[in-house]
Amino acid sequence: MAFKVTLVSTSPIDGQKPGTSGLRKKVKVFKQPNYLENFVQATFNALTPEKVKGATLVVSGDGRYYSKDAVQIIIKMAAANGVRRVWVGKNTLMSTPAVSAVIRERSGADGSKATGAFILTASHNPGGPTEDFGIKYNMENGGPAPESITDKIYENTKTIKEYPIAEDLPNVDISAIGVTSFEGPEGKFDVEVFDSADDYVKLMKSIFDFESIRKLLSSPKFTFCYDALHGVAGAYAHRIFVEELGAQESALLNCVPKEDFGGGHPDPNLTYAKELVARMGLGKSDTGDEPPEFGAAADGDADRNMILGKRFFVTPSDSVAIIAANAIEAIPYFSSGLKGVARSMPTSAALDVVAKSLNLKFFEVPTGWKFFGNLMDAGMCSVCGEESFGTGSDHIREKDGIWAVLAWMSILAHKNKETIDGDTKLVTVEDIVRQHWATYGRHYYTRYDYENVDAGKAKELMEHLVKLQSSIPEVNKIVKGIRSDVANVSSADEFEYKDPVDGSISKHQGIRYLFEDGSRLVFRLSGTGSEGATIRLYIEQYEKDASKIGRESQEALSPLVDIALKLSKMEEFTGRSAPTVIT
Ligand code: G6P
Ligand code: ZN
Repeated sequence: MAFKVTLVSTSPIDGQKPGTSGLRKKVKVFKQPNYLENFVQATFNALTPEKVKGATLVVSGDGRYYSKDAVQIIIKMAAANGVRRVWVGKNTLMSTPAVSAVIRERSGADGSKATGAFILTASHNPGGPTEDFGIKYNMENGGPAPESITDKIYENTKTIKEYPIAEDLPNVDISAIGVTSFEGPEGKFDVEVFDSADDYVKLMKSIFDFESIRKLLSSPKFTFCYDALHGVAGAYAHRIFVEELGAQESALLNCVPKEDFGGGHPDPNLTYAKELVARMGLGKSDTGDEPPEFGAAADGDADRNMILGKRFFVTPSDSVAIIAANAIEAIPYFSSGLKGVARSMPTSAALDVVAKSLNLKFFEVPTGWKFFGNLMDAGMCSVCGEESFGTGSDHIREKDGIWAVLAWMSILAHKNKETIDGDTKLVTVEDIVRQHWATYGRHYYTRYDYENVDAGKAKELMEHLVKLQSSIPEVNKIVKGIRSDVANVSSADEFEYKDPVDGSISKHQGIRYLFEDGSRLVFRLSGTGSEGATIRLYIEQYEKDASKIGRESQEALSPLVDIALKLSKMEEFTGRSAPTVIT
């Protein structure tokens, strides 16, 4: 089938600056004439020509509302820009980690490899006609575009005048697996629709010992529940957990991907993953049923994870530390050692303690998975994680929700090697976490989110906190005036990161107040919201004394919470007496 290329004239549209993870806006914003087109062309223009002309591109995402339209538009623009091939997941579905894996691992029938991807997702934000859509570009290494590229994209959106599009290219049937070929002015153009679960499962099997996990899952003593919150993880969950690992069908909750995530908020935390939380015995009222031993959830695009034990929540900061502490023994991929570990700045220092004790290279990077990519490409980091429910490794360049679940299953299988058969009680998720605290100390941790705050007020609050930092004695006077039972603030700054690989510097990455006893208060503005500003407050306290590691975390942290709220004048600036979400 032949197609022509038309040049459409356009003009810049305000506000197309990619955030922490691409451009995220309400669907109605994306539906404005030329909105998506401008951003896509600005991206093509930010890439070197060989990443466009003759290249192979992946285009897919979490299947949220507007993805089907967006995929067709991007296909037509790719064709017109001289792209050789577009790879699309069946029904546009491909999890963010699967996209990363496909870029890195997949070869086409003729040996072709992808050099980049448009990922269509707004991650954990709700979907549907009145909710969010999003798009981001990932590079040849499978990771999100670095700031040098996203800055260029943004600059291009401010000057764009025209874009080429193959308007007469018929829509491709993305529900049917197969290749559709076209002929354009620059030659052949193919669209291949495939099921990315094949590539993803193959990769997972090369990392984990599926046999030992299968054995764990087949034990009547071990029960499991996985909640995909109607996100794209559902497209992989049946295949991996049921078909490959033998879990019961009933272990899968909300595993049918939906355009609007069933009306829910596809963010795996204690607030939004309500059904799973109830099943795990962590809800407000007891369901009466015995909760499963192990539960996990994913976000819309399946890169995030939440790990739960029976009536027990594992903080993401502890999760990455525990995975790192057990990886070498429990996960074949790491059996020859870890190259290093890394966490984002606001993530608790639980990982630091493991790194120190195991003598591992350790890095603290700004919020955003893209900062881990350089370290991994340079062979300096094997396992990393963030407080925002992201955990992963250098098997790809995105965080990976299902990988995290398999990592925990591997640890459980390893710890239960001796106990799996017979009558002995299983080592539980809670046992593993408590044992970890007993060995390394516990980092009490909580995060307060103030969503959709007036952007001006949020900025004023941050400015106020920066101004305070000029005098630590003054800060301590305020702190002691609020509570006398906390340690002194020893230093305070705005986090700045110099990438050890390429030397690039990222400034203003969050405001820190560091206490003499290792406690920390961190304030940041979210980079992923689509409306107003979201203030995040991260509160952490380190406890080495084994007799004090069993407290309720909100109770243990309450003096620091008090200080954080008063020091920042949170209520005064935001008008909010309570956060929107506490995790
Ligand atoms: C996305 C990124 C994460 C990052 C998170 C932070 O999920 O992939 O790497 O931690 O956003 O979001 P925030 O809203 O705090 O900027
Ligand atoms: Zn996500």
